[in-house]
Amino acid sequence: MKPSLIVFDTTLRDGEQSPGASMNKEEKLRIARQLEKMRVDVIEAGFAAASIGDFEAIRLVSENIRESTVCSLARANDADITRAGEAIAPAARKRIHTFIATSPIHMEKKLNMTPNEVLEQAVKAIGWARRYTDDVEFSAEDAGRSELDFLCRVFEAVISAGATTINVPDTVGYNLPKQFSHTLARLIERVPNSDKVVWSVHCHNDLGLAVANSLAAIEAGARQVECTINGLGERAGNAALEEIVMAVRTRPDIFPVEIALDTTQIVPASRLVSQITGYPVQPNKAIVGANAFAHEAGIHQDGVLKHRETYEIMRAEDVGWKENKLVLGKHSGRNAFKNRLSELGVILESEEALNAAFTRFKELADKKHEIFDEDLQALARPEVAPEQDYYKLGYSLVSSETGEIPHARVILGVGGEEKTGEADGSGPVDAVFKAIEEIAQSGAKLLLYSVNAITTGTDAQGEVTVRLARDEHIVNGQGADTDIVIASAKAYLNALNKLQTSRERLNPQL
Ligand code: KIV
Ligand code: ZN
Repeated sequence: MKPSLIVFDTTLRDGEQSPGASMNKEEKLRIARQLEKMRVDVIEAGFAAASIGDFEAIRLVSENIRESTVCSLARANDADITRAGEAIAPAARKRIHTFIATSPIHMEKKLNMTPNEVLEQAVKAIGWARRYTDDVEFSAEDAGRSELDFLCRVFEAVISAGATTINVPDTVGYNLPKQFSHTLARLIERVPNSDKVVWSVHCHNDLGLAVANSLAAIEAGARQVECTINGLGERAGNAALEEIVMAVRTRPDIFPVEIALDTTQIVPASRLVSQITGYPVQPNKAIVGANAFAHEAGIHQDGVLKHRETYEIMRAEDVGWKENKLVLGKHSGRNAFKNRLSELGVILESEEALNAAFTRFKELADKKHEIFDEDLQALARPEVAPEQDYYKLGYSLVSSETGEIPHARVILGVGGEEKTGEADGSGPVDAVFKAIEEIAQSGAKLLLYSVNAITTGTDAQGEVTVRLARDEHIVNGQGADTDIVIASAKAYLNALNKLQTSRERLNPQL
């Protein structure tokens, strides 16, 4: 029997630190439920002291998740740790993850603390965290650029103080695989009480090496990996869960660990995170990209038909890919709709949400004859509580004709009041955004506009992502419709609604 590798997912915390990826509490709960279904061991649900919204989201996840351990991040101070302890209180299994920076540059320039002060603070933090749970993780932020002797001193002290997991983050993605595995091996060897804890790694992808570094660390003795779905995360992101898990599963000859995860839930998890955050998955992304199992070259196709393993090292179905199936149509009833959603792992929290999604389904079925699982997932997506939206699309008329300037007229509900806007644009989408802005006057800057077809065919729904920035806030909005211009208008309004409600939030690493 090999030892287990603990999969610690931080999509809801580090993943959420990607610009515009912030999620509301209902969205976090949907992702947490999917992670639990996938049998992820630990779910880092947020950073409780960051904002009231984050605190409430961790609490909601703690109240609802029973199998996975729920964790909150906390800086190494009493106030943060108290907040984390309160947020995870309802969880069946709970962890506090506290951290302080240990690299010379962070201690001197960011914390303005001496190494001895950092060590003392780290030890105190473990004591504070142990008031709330026996499961306490300590991270030495920027361990990848810290001095080994100092790391050994800090780790020995926090283990003696009661830390149960020691995490070694390559916070800025600076390490190379050989170097990182060497660091980990030496830490395990040199810290006298290293056998009392689980050793963990947390790698960032600035040099595209997050997964390689994590895998090298597993070979060197790491028994927990911190990762995110689709590799979402601060800057270039974190190590991708799906890549680590499938590497370990596919190469049992190399890795000395077992993973208990249900890999068939990987693709649904990837889709859900992509839909909620608005971060599309690139087609050639390993495991979860649309082309990850597509064979284009004739020789490859021929080989796969003769013997699948000529060109495939994993089975698409093992990571949750399914053939596009025609699932429902115009005549399907509410029960069939509800059952299929629940088979897809989509739980609509209230009767109103189900009714609203069913109405959207009927509208879609009138326009599009074949409705696939992907369509259902898109229309069950929130618009969680459209009745609470400040901006609502009432009506839009967009004209676009060869040789003429595109023009749009929109009617919006704005806080319950009806307003009309009109504008020309360089194209129909530009015109509709300008007409919306004529009403909203948001002052937001458009950072990103992207369109993806949800399924194939010219009648496919287009899924649009819009990223808007105003002051410190960056938000993503999504909209789906068979009409790309309407999908774009919905996405723009979704982003405006998020800007309307976005609250001040701390970044743990600032
Ligand atoms: O990258 C990092 O160092 C972190 C820590 C808070 C674990 O995210
Ligand atoms: Zn990180």
